Amino acid sequence: MIKRLFLLTIFIITIITIKMEDSLEIPQIGNIFNRKKISLNGKWNYIIDVQEEGYYGYRMDVRKRGFFVNEKPKNPDDLIEYDFDKAPEMEIPTDWNTKNNKLFFYEGTIWFKKSFNYTINQNKKIILYFGAVNYETIVYINGILIGKHIGGFTPFNFDITSKIKNGNNFIILKIDNKRKKENIPTLIFDWWNYGGITRDVYLIETNLIYIQNYHLYLNKQNKKQIYINIQLNNNIANKSIEISIPELNIKKYFKTNNKGIVIGNIDINNLILWTPENPKLYKVILKLDNEEIFDNIGFRSIEASNKNILLNGVPIFLKGISLHDEKPNGGGRINNISDVKKILSWVKDLGCNFIRLAHYPHNEYMIREAEKEGILVWSEIPLYWTISWDNKDTYNNAKKQLTDMILRDINRANIIIWSIANETPSGKSRDIFLSNLITHTRNLDSTRLITMALEVASTLDDNYTNQLTDNMANYVDIISINEYIGWYRDTNNISKMKWVIPYNKPVIISEFGAGAKYGYHGNKNERWTEEFQENVYINNLKMIEKIDGLVGVSPWILKDFRSPRRLLNGIQDYYNRKGLISDNGDKKKAFYILKNWYEKIKEKRNNDL
Ligand code: GCU
Repeated sequence: MIKRLFLLTIFIITIITIKMEDSLEIPQIGNIFNRKKISLNGKWNYIIDVQEEGYYGYRMDVRKRGFFVNEKPKNPDDLIEYDFDKAPEMEIPTDWNTKNNKLFFYEGTIWFKKSFNYTINQNKKIILYFGAVNYETIVYINGILIGKHIGGFTPFNFDITSKIKNGNNFIILKIDNKRKKENIPTLIFDWWNYGGITRDVYLIETNLIYIQNYHLYLNKQNKKQIYINIQLNNNIANKSIEISIPELNIKKYFKTNNKGIVIGNIDINNLILWTPENPKLYKVILKLDNEEIFDNIGFRSIEASNKNILLNGVPIFLKGISLHDEKPNGGGRINNISDVKKILSWVKDLGCNFIRLAHYPHNEYMIREAEKEGILVWSEIPLYWTISWDNKDTYNNAKKQLTDMILRDINRANIIIWSIANETPSGKSRDIFLSNLITHTRNLDSTRLITMALEVASTLDDNYTNQLTDNMANYVDIISINEYIGWYRDTNNISKMKWVIPYNKPVIISEFGAGAKYGYHGNKNERWTEEFQENVYINNLKMIEKIDGLVGVSPWILKDFRSPRRLLNGIQDYYNRKGLISDNGDKKKAFYILKNWYEKIKEKRNNDL
């Protein structure tokens, strides 16, 4: 039933996307890593347009005249005050804030233009794919509007087969990262509002009928069987798809139904399950007509059972750390594999087997590299703080971002948790909004656990009791709690704290921590010193390890990160300083407290097992 719901959801998305007027946006194509593609990364011209002159010229509706959406003035005599060819260039993918100091704080519209040559092949579809653009993007090709996308952290793509020309083409984007109350995230959030084309841009060439997406996963009840769901881009029946897993000597054929969908399974002997200790990936080849795509897929089961999380039926403890999607130093969005490798080297040095990718879907490089390294992942959408819970467009935006996050990474074995919110204020409309998203998530993907970062009220009485009262705890598989005892409250009473979490569910402490400026030393009671942060970690870990049902922690946060809310001159300087590592890559004293605790936890768990 759930499998059919997954595929029906995808099918409906397909129909809705195509039906939208003017838009050539099509459902997300899965696994672009291993598709035939041409990169459009590299130099793009850009024009900073503070008053959106290129879009709202008040004397006429420039959108009709294609103002700013042509490379240069059509008629040299026209008084048009822009010319992309004379405009500066930016190396894409990148956020614009760290590439031009005039743009450090910039929130508004910037136009980007890319020219490219292309030779048309009659029997191919051409898909224009963006890994992510923050925040609202209007896309033109050869001066023609082809669609608009909202959301800054998930892929989107357009079928441009009918618009691309033989020879020279050009793409123009209008990108606007202004914060708005009805957006996701909303007006306030504790990270930098990096704008621009922050992830890769490709032209993907496919057959006219192609495999749009797929999901291969282990049957929880029968570890000798994997399920297969495949969706074509077209609801065509009786198309034969070959699935092979050479290492397991498997080659099987499946036929699509009248919705262009395959639902099937394959019996497999001697399957090696994916684990952090042995992150086994199998090369899987999917073939339709003369087109092959391959993926490296790990098979595992994850479930919550009473107060445990079971990976392949065995209880696990999540030795985690939280991350923002930021380069190892100097800030800016991660945009290449070497950034990821550096960050993951720190994660492994800390002794982690788990990362919380806060507060939005991270770069796909991070997830695929972590999968190879055996690092488990919590992935989330930016439903953060004071969202417009009563706004239907906001809900549809959240549902689309959630759907696209899941579709992009649905075959990644290391993602075990989808999180749909962070520290949202209780309320009826919030509960309806989030519970509907949880239902949608379960329909789309039954193979992962669901959570959200909740808050506990401050101590309810002078017994220093922290009780979880958030109604959303009833809807999730894992209870996740952000607490800042010792930093934002109860600085001197950590050791007295008791916890009341009245649920027979596993518990993750998804955030705790304290700020420290690297190299600033003093008494452990002196805020912003490394000793203060170290002491908060020592006392929090002593408190946390007594929590009944604790299955993991992801302290806040691996590395200092940029935030416009952190204004203390000489200490924060627009950085949130809760990192265990400074923005120059220096490890603070608290780093070693957590590293040592994870070492002890490993020994304790080995003894318990
Ligand atoms: C919050 C929030 C984080 C924020 C952190 C802090 O819990 O989830 O995004 O950065 O606390 O205050 O540093």
